[in-house]
Amino acid sequence: MKALVLAGGTGSRLRPFTDTGAKQLLPIANKPVLFYGLEAIAAAGIREAGIVVGRRGGEVRGAVGDGSAFGLRVHYLHQERPLGLAHAVLIARDFLGDDDFLLYLGDNYLQDGLTGFAERAAAHPGAARLLLTPVADPTAFGVAELDGSGDVVRLEEKPERPRSDLALIGVYAFGREVHEAVRAISPSVRGELEITDAVQWMLDRGLRVRAETTTRPWRDTGSVDDLLEVNRQVLDGIEGRVDGKVDPDSTVLGRVRLAEGAVVRGSRIVGPAVIGAGTVISNSSIGPYTAIAEDCRIEDSAIAHSVLLRGADVEGASRIESSLIGRGAVVAPAPRLPQAHRLVIGDHSKVQLTS
Ligand code: G1P
Repeated sequence: MKALVLAGGTGSRLRPFTDTGAKQLLPIANKPVLFYGLEAIAAAGIREAGIVVGRRGGEVRGAVGDGSAFGLRVHYLHQERPLGLAHAVLIARDFLGDDDFLLYLGDNYLQDGLTGFAERAAAHPGAARLLLTPVADPTAFGVAELDGSGDVVRLEEKPERPRSDLALIGVYAFGREVHEAVRAISPSVRGELEITDAVQWMLDRGLRVRAETTTRPWRDTGSVDDLLEVNRQVLDGIEGRVDGKVDPDSTVLGRVRLAEGAVVRGSRIVGPAVIGAGTVISNSSIGPYTAIAEDCRIEDSAIAHSVLLRGADVEGASRIESSLIGRGAVVAPAPRLPQAHRLVIGDHSKVQLTS
């Protein structure tokens, strides 16, 4: 079995972060979200993966390389424009050949990995097998309707009136029948070739589509809130380990992973939290549920429930909460109490002011 991992997509709901970086490389507990998926694929015994990349493909290649760090042989497939999940399958035809494969959305996070699903797909090969989960608002997803034996009878992409609460999550297993389906369908109203429509095409031709339902934690990290929530879940499972330097005026409480080369002075760190190499924290309070990447500087500040990307610089922020702070971003105190706010903010940024 091969894997096809989708790491194109524009990530419009994560702007401006996705204007300057691939959304699949945004970190969860200081590790790119895509890496969790690649690790799960390798743990499921798959050795060959195709990664479909778009305009940020260079960064994905730079981070993943030939895949050997994950125990995978990785091939890159370039998708000119994000024309849909079924389009990605279409352009991967040569790489996939007639092999069964697992389709995986690179910005998804599944706490339990893929091993059980991949094993069952290999034990019962067929046209398609889908992974579903009950959700509160099915209108935001592909939705499956099942028969009494748990097979799929009908699928709809983002239906206005969903026939069930079972959403398709970003994991599918396919046999070679899918190639004819992705060639046969037409673009949806959003202009994409939907994998949901390709599976419905197979159902219409009498092919069996199996499904399994999970209630284990799963998230599409497509928005800031989802990213912070996955970060919280992953931090909940970390082990503490202090390799960096902590001075005698500091306190480290609970499970804190402080990388070698990180420095903590006169500060209080409350786990779960991870702090990357080269980061210096002084006179500050950090955590809980906070991930600070490499080479950041935090001074005279308090930060909780947040994610800071590489090189972020925060000074004099009395309390930062539930925030995502970008690479090399600077948060600094105003020189005096301002009569007015002076803002220099990039396109699509969101700033919340207290007054
Ligand atoms: C895609 C699929 C949808 C699925 C979702 C899971 O939606 O089209 O069927 O439920 O991923 O994350 P998109 O994220 O492209 O809107």
